[in-house]
Amino acid sequence: MISNQWYAILPSKKVKTDKIVGVKRMNLDLAIFRNSKGEIGCVVDQCTHRGAALSLGKVKDDCIQCPFHGLEFNKIGKCMFIPANGKASTGDISRYNVKHYPVREENGIIYLWYGDEEKITDDLPFFDKEIDDSFVFSELEDHWNSHYSRCIENQLDVVHLPFVHQSTIGRGNKTLVNGPKVVWEDGILTTSANNELDQGQKPKSPEECVIKDTHLSFRFPNIWMNHISENIKVIIYFAPVDDENTVLYIRFYCKLTSLRPINSLIAYIGKFANKTVERQDKRVVITQKPKASSLRSGEKLVPGDGPIIKYRKIREELINSTVK
Ligand code: FES
Ligand SMILES: [Fe+2]
Repeated sequence: MISNQWYAILPSKKVKTDKIVGVKRMNLDLAIFRNSKGEIGCVVDQCTHRGAALSLGKVKDDCIQCPFHGLEFNKIGKCMFIPANGKASTGDISRYNVKHYPVREENGIIYLWYGDEEKITDDLPFFDKEIDDSFVFSELEDHWNSHYSRCIENQLDVVHLPFVHQSTIGRGNKTLVNGPKVVWEDGILTTSANNELDQGQKPKSPEECVIKDTHLSFRFPNIWMNHISENIKVIIYFAPVDDENTVLYIRFYCKLTSLRPINSLIAYIGKFANKTVERQDKRVVITQKPKASSLRSGEKLVPGDGPIIKYRKIREELINSTVK
């Protein structure tokens, strides 16, 4: 994992008011809950008293209440009440506090800060310049038995298109990979496919290629966008579960017409198109060994893997920059 980053981990709608959701993210068992004011809290899913899963408890007085002996913790994990000691008991109970993780919400996504709390930023990774309220979206969820780095690389991979997506977005047997051009600017990695039918010509260098209107953008640590056109985009956030598992949340954004219900219908249909393409990717990506990618993996890359090499380099730089 890269430290000191906001990771998109779960759709906001999954955590309803006064409810708790137990999830594994970043190799951690977490209990995420929403209080009556709509605020969310995220604590380690293990009670400090005798280890029960807090996610099996309930939300009471805006706290998460352990299902075993009723200890109550607020949204930052502070122990507020120990029923067995009685309402009249006073004194410091801070030793019962559970570890919490800072969480925030934007664009219907719950983000978790993974790193030093003193280093928290206000910048939740998204594509704010491209997506505004005039869009509607549908969302699809799927679990892949892969490390999230492999899932991300797959979405930056222009070489696989005519093979994995022969019947869909990779039609036309365009196996020759020109470039691709890769741009890393303002914290966004951008590339676009520039593939052609192989008629014996030499592939163009990245410098000879351009970023097309239809292009791919990625923001660290885990959110990606396919800018299909001004009015249609696909966004995926790759929620890291552990070293071998990832949950993908795939959104189809649409504002093709001025009528939101029509756009919603198109987004609904788009979800099935996304699913078809995603299942084609999943079939192959989950077989990759090792499960996680790395810069010095010994894999024999080709020039067309440029975006993947760039991703690996920046990822390694970010990891190294936070290692103390
Ligand atoms: S284990 Fe949670 S209150 Fe006892
Ligand atoms: Fe793909």
